[in-house]
Amino acid sequence: ISKIGVLTSGGDAPGMNPCIRAVVRTALYNGLEVVGIRQGYKGLIDNDMYEMDRRSVSNILNLGGTILKTARCLPFKTDEGMEQAYQHAKARGIDALVVIGGDGTFTGALRFSRKYPDIAVMGVPGTIDNDLCGSTYTLGFDTATNTVIQAIDKIRDTADAHDRLFFIEVMGRDSGAIALRAGISCGAEAILLPERATAIDDLIANLKEGHMNKKSSSIVIVAEGDKNGGVYGVAKAVQEEVKNYDIKVTILGHLQRGGAPSSFDRILGSRLGFAAVNALIAGESQKMVGLQANHILMTDLEAALNHHEFKLEEDLLQMMDILSI
Ligand code: F6P
Repeated sequence: ISKIGVLTSGGDAPGMNPCIRAVVRTALYNGLEVVGIRQGYKGLIDNDMYEMDRRSVSNILNLGGTILKTARCLPFKTDEGMEQAYQHAKARGIDALVVIGGDGTFTGALRFSRKYPDIAVMGVPGTIDNDLCGSTYTLGFDTATNTVIQAIDKIRDTADAHDRLFFIEVMGRDSGAIALRAGISCGAEAILLPERATAIDDLIANLKEGHMNKKSSSIVIVAEGDKNGGVYGVAKAVQEEVKNYDIKVTILGHLQRGGAPSSFDRILGSRLGFAAVNALIAGESQKMVGLQANHILMTDLEAALNHHEFKLEEDLLQMMDILSI
């Protein structure tokens, strides 16, 4: 290979910038050229790209978001969009791509690379959702979880001062990874996850019991993807049954995706970017680089997308009920 295109796609995640920096500098070190593609696959379709040098990635390690910008690109799902992207990549001399993102990004990358195998593709797991197989952690998950914990600690102060019950929604359309870790870290009374159904009646019984045991304030964390109809619906159903609690709802929203990457995400981003370029140089394609038992290993993109195989840690799930009593 001689020229690598790098892009970030889907929801941004803290740690993407350290990863871009590692991709650029590792490629240049190995005598390759690098093209930065703006706004993910949209930049390929619109021919919005620029040559990157060592200085294009100066002073970005500490920045959240992504200097390349990102987008969720529907036209890339069509044959015409893909063909246009391919023609623009070829015209630039790009023969390998590093795509940093989550499941939507990898689905696109796999389709593209099967259609046009002369452009090698390497995935880097970048999503706060931590829901890809083949990497114990994805870029941004650690920072996002820490951001959530800081916010919930603050809510706990006011919940306690007023003897209130707070329902807090955290991100994760299909994933309870942030909810589970934040819930355990903040001592939530209950954690509602898409991966494990919680009956509202059981939740109400638990909260009533907590009240009888002289709990004055409580925090319930609801993952965005919980199947009980959303945080407001859950709070309303509980309020009807638990009259002696004053209930409030907080949706943390997009603040969870911003902020300076943690030490963990800076190192992970650097390791994954470095590994992705080295894997492409070694002739690999249609793979994802990921962290497994503190080693950087490769997984087939197809396997990385296999949600059914992805599981939250069993010991955390067991612990979450026991420790909250
Ligand atoms: O995939 C990351 C994520 O932050 C999810 O947790 C969330 O459901 C989604 O993105 C929100 O997407 P958007 O920023 O496009 O609304």
